Amino acid sequence: MDVDGSHPQSDPRRVGVRPQDYAPWVTAWADALYGPAGFYRRPEGPAGHFRTASHAAPGPLARALARLARQTGCSRVVDVGAGRGELLVALAALEDAADGPVPLGLHGCDVVPRPATLPDRVGWSAGLQALLADLPLLDDALVVGWELLDVVPCPVVEVDGTGAVREVLVDPATGRERLGDPPGPDDAAWLARWWPLDGRPTGTRAEVGRPRDALWSALAARCAATPHGAVLLAVDYAHTAATRPPAGSLAGYRGGLLVDPVPDGSCDVTAHVALDAVAAAAGAAGASAGVVVRQRGALRSLGLSAGPGAHPGSHDPSGAPLPAATILRALAERSAVAELLDPDGLGGFSWLLSAAGRPQPVLPEPPGPPGPPDPRAPGPV
Ligand SMILES: C[S@@+](CC[C@H](N)C(=O)[O-])C[C@H]1O[C@@H](n2cnc3c(N)ncnc32)[C@H](O)[C@@H]1O
Repeated sequence: MDVDGSHPQSDPRRVGVRPQDYAPWVTAWADALYGPAGFYRRPEGPAGHFRTASHAAPGPLARALARLARQTGCSRVVDVGAGRGELLVALAALEDAADGPVPLGLHGCDVVPRPATLPDRVGWSAGLQALLADLPLLDDALVVGWELLDVVPCPVVEVDGTGAVREVLVDPATGRERLGDPPGPDDAAWLARWWPLDGRPTGTRAEVGRPRDALWSALAARCAATPHGAVLLAVDYAHTAATRPPAGSLAGYRGGLLVDPVPDGSCDVTAHVALDAVAAAAGAAGASAGVVVRQRGALRSLGLSAGPGAHPGSHDPSGAPLPAATILRALAERSAVAELLDPDGLGGFSWLLSAAGRPQPVLPEPPGPPGPPDPRAPGPV
């Protein structure tokens, strides 16, 4: 062990650091993202730094989610952690263009005030507490948390040279780390249940997902208290008991690039989500058990396809040539859907689908043959 308590894997970033600069990761991470000058309060919003499904393919994603909402009997969509409302803008455009069913109600929530780009008919709550306090907003809703939970800060722990588990502290200005005390009893119990580190090699790390569990179960409990209940969908890069990353998954993003996770407010700080733990916590708060499926399969079962059948072609069914603009639009749409379904990209995200105050929803089987088992599937919850 270093004199300042660091673990033995010496990291040049850790040399010569003043101990008084260090804070637990959970604290530094929260300040960096959500403090007064936090990353997520910046005017450019998440879209200025990385590309989520709502930025890559808002139209197709909106179509799939509108279909999911209607298939599961919901009359509204509530987007929690909505960024600057990109998905809601696409849903509003889709619903306004449709002349069939009753339009879905739309509502967003993020840590910032209502974005100026939102159509009037989309509601907005600035902050989760405002949403949780307004129960009718959650009634009969499809509640979506798209890449929300991975940016909920949580404690980081590491196995030290003696085999003991210690909380990782970080200098917010530099990202240098040292090890602090063992985790408290609640974090230790979470680790024992969801991410056991006994006997693991020195340097093995874990992110303690309790704050993610708490956020999602608070939503589930409020949904369960509504007259008609709600469907809950959390979408993120995720792991379950069989697939925990041995080094944890803490990472930073700035301007579209993967960077060291320095919690100084200049970059996003994210870690994959222990989605089985989230499902269990939501279950204890009144939600159904939930299923975890990969995004690719979920979106295919909701009607998205980028296969040969989706090719736009250059002529209409009567044989007349299509205008170039129509062909280009169709090609752009096809490549957006392909990006959503890419198993090594956005298609590799996990969906946790559950319900509170109503039965567990079932996604239809995707069309076509079942195909071989997916070795990267997140596993049962
Ligand atoms: C990674 S971004 C994803 C944005 C959007 N869902 C998308 O897919 O493009 C996560 C968003 O969750 C928001 N967020 C995190 N914690 C939140 C909370 N407790 N209440 C409301 N929003 C939150 C952040 O401010 C950020 O805009």
